[in-house]
Amino acid sequence: MPDDALNIWREKLEFLQRELAVSADPSLKFQLEQQIKKAQARVTELESPSIPPPDERHSTFDVFLSHNSSDKSAIRKIGLALKKRGLTVWLDEWELVPGRPWQDALEDIIRTAKSAAVFVGSNGLGPWEEPEMRACLSEFVDRSLPVIPVLLPDAPRSPKLPLFLRQFTWVDLRRGISNEGMDRLVWGITGSKASKMPRVNRNSLRELDAVQSKESEIDSHLLSLPELYSVPNYVQGHTFMGREDELREIDTWAQGKLSILLLDAIGGNGKSALAWHWVNQHARKTIPDLAGALWWSFYEASPSMKLFVEKALAYVMQEHPSRFSRSSYRDNILTLQSELRKRPYLIVLDGFERLLWAYHRIDKSHIHDDEVDESQRSCIYDDDEQFLKQFVVSNPSKTIVTSRLVPTALEVYAGKLLTGVKRIKVEGLKPEDALSIIRDLGVLGDKRRLITFCNQFGHHPLLLRIVCGAVANYHSAPGDFNKWRVDKGTSGGGQLKLVDLELKQRRTHILAYAYDRLDAKYQIFLSRVAVLSSAVDYDTIKVLSPMHHQFSRNIS
Ligand SMILES: Nc1ncnc2c1ncn2[C@@H]1O[C@H](COP(=O)(O)OP(=O)(O)OP(=O)(O)O)[C@@H](O)[C@H]1O
Ligand SMILES: [Mg+2]
Repeated sequence: MPDDALNIWREKLEFLQRELAVSADPSLKFQLEQQIKKAQARVTELESPSIPPPDERHSTFDVFLSHNSSDKSAIRKIGLALKKRGLTVWLDEWELVPGRPWQDALEDIIRTAKSAAVFVGSNGLGPWEEPEMRACLSEFVDRSLPVIPVLLPDAPRSPKLPLFLRQFTWVDLRRGISNEGMDRLVWGITGSKASKMPRVNRNSLRELDAVQSKESEIDSHLLSLPELYSVPNYVQGHTFMGREDELREIDTWAQGKLSILLLDAIGGNGKSALAWHWVNQHARKTIPDLAGALWWSFYEASPSMKLFVEKALAYVMQEHPSRFSRSSYRDNILTLQSELRKRPYLIVLDGFERLLWAYHRIDKSHIHDDEVDESQRSCIYDDDEQFLKQFVVSNPSKTIVTSRLVPTALEVYAGKLLTGVKRIKVEGLKPEDALSIIRDLGVLGDKRRLITFCNQFGHHPLLLRIVCGAVANYHSAPGDFNKWRVDKGTSGGGQLKLVDLELKQRRTHILAYAYDRLDAKYQIFLSRVAVLSSAVDYDTIKVLSPMHHQFSRNIS
């Protein structure tokens, strides 16, 4: 992780320095210099030898999990549940340097773990049957440290335990990984009843699954192929509607020879929703021998192709990402391309415009689509440009790129795509699909007038939802489009004059209309979030919110 962090900060520093070199705007220069100072300080801090290497970071672990590797998925769940209860856990795949056999780590385990949980499942005996592991566990016994045999949900009725383990009280999880069972395990590990510890909520299994999939967002190697690895899941707030023509076209592309599909459109026109729906509902039916599928969003994750390549390699090769963070970006690109040519993977690069010059500005949260310099469609980094081109020859794998602009990497020259690239220019929704969404959002009114109004912004799905939200919240007659449209007061839609504007300006105009009508506290919240230059975690968002008291109440 520190390696990852160091690489990201080095990269950021490099980028800022390059941008400073080409920047002419004095205020932008000032901002860049400030950011460079910060990045430099962070790099120095991370490079400093006073930061202990990863192995020495955790001086102690509350528990070491000894298990059979075939029981990995249950063990991961238990490990995560223990972590959630505040315990530190030694699990081989989290702690072991990739490629290093567990036998080499035995000394560390004995030195650092305060207890050992020995798992018994249906998959036969774990490594504790082997002499080295038995010696390790005996060492725990000799040092009077707790050793807790744990029966997994699928353990046999009368499990065979080695003699020296039989003296210990076991924890029986054969009825499932319940809160009660976990309490008993925590009790065994810490020696104190777990009731004082934070409990996973009642619906423990569902929550554990959620925790697991959240972790999987970070640890690509934890997911088994061909399960979808997504960083992160696209959140589709409402039922996906329509797009039959586009979905059919994507099916045809997937069955054909072209490797890349470019879905391009202005922001909010439904590129991600369409791609996500296809990946989840169509991909496996259309490509039955799919070896794996990977969704990478450059908005939610870092806008870095380098990180994507490392995580993608960890996923397709089922290895720990740290193995690849040590290799050079170019070497990783070559390895990934060669893996993609061996078996059919599906890759989605969502929000690719973030890697293009046009969208790469310090104040990117303030860029409107109608202000973007559309000629700046090349990647900021040359390597990214070359890498994207190579997806054209990654058969049998397929890549979907969603982007607000057509990247030059996919063109021979402006307007002419590379052979191997199919483009679907995503338009607004069909009027009848737009109407289904409008009705779904609880808006009533004359069908013809509604369609004529929404036609002004091309049945753009995001704007549709914003307008429907405004109508639904219209105080005088909630949900009544006809009344809302003629009302020229502050909460009515009579002030929205779209006729004289271009499509992109109409979008900006509707967004401004919606923003102006927001409660002040939501405006403050949005303006704070807009300052962030990259994705942040939920806790940060909570702190930024003027409603954070409400946030914490809801969470507890
Ligand atoms: N077919 C659809 N059915 C229902 N809702 C949709 C549909 N398409 C898009 N939406 C909704 O419209 C909004 C914008 O869609 P989406 O996020 O896919 O846009 P985008 O083109 O990817 O935008 P950006 O360039 O900002 O990433 C989302 O809230 C999405 O849920
Ligand atoms: Mg998107």
